[in-house]
Amino acid sequence: MSVLTSRVPRPRRFLVCEPRHFDVHYAINPWMRTDAPVDTALAARQWEALMCAYRAHGHTVETVPPVPGLPDMVFAANSALVLAGRVFGSLFHAPQRRPESTAYETWFKAAGFDVYRPESVCEGEGDLVPAGPYVLAGTGFRTTRAAHQEVQEYFGVPTISLQLVDPHFYHLDTALFVLDEENIAYYPEAFSPGCREVLARLFPRAVLATRADAMAFGLNSVSDGRHVFIAPQATGLIGRLAAEGYVPVPVDLSEFHKAGGGIKCCTQEIR
Ligand code: ARG
Repeated sequence: MSVLTSRVPRPRRFLVCEPRHFDVHYAINPWMRTDAPVDTALAARQWEALMCAYRAHGHTVETVPPVPGLPDMVFAANSALVLAGRVFGSLFHAPQRRPESTAYETWFKAAGFDVYRPESVCEGEGDLVPAGPYVLAGTGFRTTRAAHQEVQEYFGVPTISLQLVDPHFYHLDTALFVLDEENIAYYPEAFSPGCREVLARLFPRAVLATRADAMAFGLNSVSDGRHVFIAPQATGLIGRLAAEGYVPVPVDLSEFHKAGGGIKCCTQEIR
């Protein structure tokens, strides 16, 4: 697409969870430190700002009730992968997060969806990213290859397993996001050499991010095809996206970075 062609946004339906009980009470990824306090009031304001930004750009936001004692439940993306109204639920790696699956399942069922519960560890859109005709599927730290098979069998969509190799990028959605029907952005070094080649073959025009932008949670972004809701700290990537004709919408979720999460982690898309 030429830079002069205007990029067309598609309105989205998002499921989110208010960070009422958000905090860092345990450490299950390299970002989490139980001795570094979270400013929970600031976290609440940052999260509200993200919701305002979504609504201001025409997106629908629905909320699942937060459950006391589940500090990571704000990361709604991990709860499921929803494609064409079919919900593939979650089974968390960490025992601390396992009860979240049922809390989200309750919401989905009340909203009229059937929920498939995976047999293998699977952390929803954290590791499962629909991109064009594929589901890109991360593994290495959380979601298992067996779960990728279950996803392919359940949806009948070609599912491409991608090996993550850097613990800072323990979920696929910390290293890659979808820009639109045709293109993605990612940080190549987060993937094994063979998987870098796979991504280069599938997406030869992808926007490649630097380590600095990836460490700033720049790839934990949400795009509607035109607007890219992105961490303001990812300055290099913001410039690259603007040059490609996208409209970056910076939203700072710095308090959530302390738990290893950002914009996309807080956002489950209902397709
Ligand atoms: N503290 C959470 C965990 O380690 C963060 C989850 C971030 N979510 C995501 N979609 N990457 O599980």
